[in-house]
Amino acid sequence: MRPIRPIEPNLRRAAKALLEGKLVVLPTETVYGLAADAANPEAVHRIFSAKGRPSDNPLIVHVGFMESIANWASEIPDELEPLARAFWPGPLTVVLPKHRRVPFETTGGLDSVAIRIPSHTATLAVIQESELGLAMPSANPFMNLSPTRADAIDPSLFPFIECIIDGGPSRVGIESTVLSLVGKPQILRPGMISAEEIEAVLGQSIQSSDQKERLSPGMYQRHYAPKTPAILVDELDATDSGLTFSYAQNPNQIQMPSDAINYAKKLYSALADMEQRDLEIIKIQRPTYTDGWEAIMDRLEKATAPG
Ligand code: TXA
Ligand code: MG
Repeated sequence: MRPIRPIEPNLRRAAKALLEGKLVVLPTETVYGLAADAANPEAVHRIFSAKGRPSDNPLIVHVGFMESIANWASEIPDELEPLARAFWPGPLTVVLPKHRRVPFETTGGLDSVAIRIPSHTATLAVIQESELGLAMPSANPFMNLSPTRADAIDPSLFPFIECIIDGGPSRVGIESTVLSLVGKPQILRPGMISAEEIEAVLGQSIQSSDQKERLSPGMYQRHYAPKTPAILVDELDATDSGLTFSYAQNPNQIQMPSDAINYAKKLYSALADMEQRDLEIIKIQRPTYTDGWEAIMDRLEKATAPG
């Protein structure tokens, strides 16, 4: 299936398909998403079938405006407004008590709902045109790498989708930070918006993700993983294949940026590229950096966890 350009007739076609309960692939600034009408249980069910995803793994509802939050959450805590002002539209997801109109299919049976306002203009246009909230997990088969380019969508999803809107490479490159605002603020999934940035906005400290018990169904030890086994190493030898911070010593090495923002942006496409080659193992040079690298380390540990 050829991705189509984010021009008006195509965005209208995507909106129309969503209103009919069909699935479309949309670009977001984090990763590409597999979208469905979040209020339509059958449409949401199709997402789980397409991805082969367990039905207790909750989805994120993507909305276009602050005013829409009240349609999805039953309570809006005081923390939300400053966070929204600082980070929305953008790669922050908040978990709130769910409104009764949100189907349990969307929340994986939970009484809470995850919501974010994404920043990609094509996706915001589809939300506006359809007037829907969009349930949108990453557009990949369960457990695999999230796509950050329209041409990286796994063909196994094609029979389930109406179209793929090509919005160019994702600007952030890894999935949003998930912050629970049910009870004490708590990060459930690290992302490129860091705990420190959130703390600065809230004026209070939040539990860091490695202290917390895993409250979030859908957080697995192995996840975001290439099909080829991958391991973390201190350094790549001249004949190794994988991701390095030094110059590539052979065609099966990719030099990665040494700053977190650009590393995150390139990570999944570099792993997807490696996955296409006939390799036995992908070696990934362990970053020794700390500040700003927490979310990247989380994804690298998941990508290299034993399968
Ligand atoms: O950047 C992103 O968030 C991307 C783009 C497409 O927006 N979406 C994404 O969705 O990563 P997904 O389905 O791959 O990951 C959603 C995760 C769940 O696996 C779960 O860990 C958490 O968000 N989550 C969703 N709803 C939750 C809830 N009610 N309570 C706790 N965690 C929840
Ligand atoms: Mg995912």
